[in-house]
Amino acid sequence: MKNILLIGGSYGIGKAIAEELQYENKLFVAARTNETIADFNVTYLPFDASTDTLDVSKLPEVIDGLVYCPGSINLRPFKALKMEAFESDLQINFLNLVKVIQTVLPNLMASNQSSIVLFSTVAVKMGMPFHTSVSASKGAIEGFAKALAAEYAPKIRVNVIAPSLTDTPLANKFLNSDEKKEKSAGRNPMKKVGTSDDIAQMASFLLSEKSNWITGQIFHVDGGMSTLLVNA
Ligand SMILES: NC(=O)c1ccc[n+]([C@@H]2O[C@H](COP(=O)([O-])OP(=O)(O)OC[C@H]3O[C@@H](n4cnc5c(N)ncnc54)[C@H](OP(=O)(O)O)[C@@H]3O)[C@@H](O)[C@H]2O)c1
Repeated sequence: MKNILLIGGSYGIGKAIAEELQYENKLFVAARTNETIADFNVTYLPFDASTDTLDVSKLPEVIDGLVYCPGSINLRPFKALKMEAFESDLQINFLNLVKVIQTVLPNLMASNQSSIVLFSTVAVKMGMPFHTSVSASKGAIEGFAKALAAEYAPKIRVNVIAPSLTDTPLANKFLNSDEKKEKSAGRNPMKKVGTSDDIAQMASFLLSEKSNWITGQIFHVDGGMSTLLVNA
């Protein structure tokens, strides 16, 4: 049984991961809220990644898997984005995750082989208008993940999942009507918006031993959005 720490996990993709892994692993969910997972088989740790340092005394000495879920989708024209927006996106997407990894590094090193799973976005591989801030902060994650994977191989594996639009509370403003959902699905090569489960399946694989020879990779779980041109 693996010890897995989810930063976030109360809703969205993290909740789908918790749902999938709760019975065959010992799960720790560190998030600001837990009402939505009250009946899950997890240990809840109240935690705000923006302000708190993880209390390692509440965690097992050995952590085999870590997933960092907090993120943002702040889309605006470049000239409308103030420096504060770049700083805030970088903080929530990247700097807070660095702090979490630094805090639990000894626990990850105590595992025979641990696995870190991080989230980027389709908009790093594929340039998209209005994404300068979020793409920059997620791009930082991709570079960081590869360097970290190199530095800690073979002890810690580090991989990144880069989804396109996925139906979660974070993406609600883009999907809160049938018309918006249809338009978004129509733009995707697979004619579908992603589900939390589509992404959770990849995270679950990357946390498992089935992926024990995979590290330093970016997985584009995006319905083909980053590589296929089918609407020309
Ligand atoms: N959804 C998409 O379309 C999409 C597309 C590309 C990339 N992604 C990336 O995929 C990841 C997961 O996205 P999602 O859509 O599942 O997000 P979400 O619906 O916003 O869920 C985020 C999870 O993280 C927790 N969280 C947020 N801020 C936190 C904080 N300061 N401290 C601790 N926990 C915090 C939330 O719980 P609490 O509020 O209870 O703390 C929640 O459990 C993100 O990094 C996102 O950028 C998503």
